[in-house]
Amino acid sequence: MKIDILTLFPEMFQGVLGSSILKRAQEKEVVKINLINFRDFSTSKHKTVDDYPYGGGNGMVLKPEPIFAAVESITDHEKARIIMLTPQGKTFNQRIAEELKEEKHLIFLCGHYEGFDERIREHLVTDELSIGDYVLTGGELATMVVMDSVVRLLPGVLGNEGSVETDSFSTGLLEYPQYTRPEVFREWKVPEILLSGHHQKIEEWRRKESFKRTLERRPDLIDINKLDEKDRALIKE
Ligand code: ADE
Repeated sequence: MKIDILTLFPEMFQGVLGSSILKRAQEKEVVKINLINFRDFSTSKHKTVDDYPYGGGNGMVLKPEPIFAAVESITDHEKARIIMLTPQGKTFNQRIAEELKEEKHLIFLCGHYEGFDERIREHLVTDELSIGDYVLTGGELATMVVMDSVVRLLPGVLGNEGSVETDSFSTGLLEYPQYTRPEVFREWKVPEILLSGHHQKIEEWRRKESFKRTLERRPDLIDINKLDEKDRALIKE
């Protein structure tokens, strides 16, 4: 997968791209991530990228020219998903991450402080995403969130550190409780069933705990009417 990130603050990405899973994914060449400062594409004397809003009002608006020029400088941009990060976008979730992981090329567009000229939305961008109902100072943190959750799904990225299949949300449920050694910590014991070696019983216990946790914390994720007989029996227990 190729990812291009258009931002006025490329240095914000150093930590995230240079550490842990995202670093390794790049080293393994599962993903190629490229930072583009779209200020470099401004043709004005002072490298201006924003201007006052037509009609008046507070704040500045990002001009279309540098952003169009930056995107058009990217090879094969016509085939890419061009994603604008904005609180006005569709709320990002695991289903969208699964959809984006199938793409060969993503371009992220990060605004900062200000809004985008509407023509960028209308004639350049293919998707608008929000990471939640709150306002950040810019799209950079939101891009990092979306990119991280997409890249970890790419084949060969996680190795043994995590299983994508049992992640919260990928099963439609929150993840079940996990334990590791010691068997007794202070006076708190690991549930007996997990030490039993009885794989089928352990699977059942985990599925039941997942349901219990999801019903308690995120009942909105469960549609009781869509459950099969086995799961319906599980949550009645
Ligand atoms: N830019 C500012 N706030 C944002 C949010 N909540 N999601 C995505 N991009 C943003």
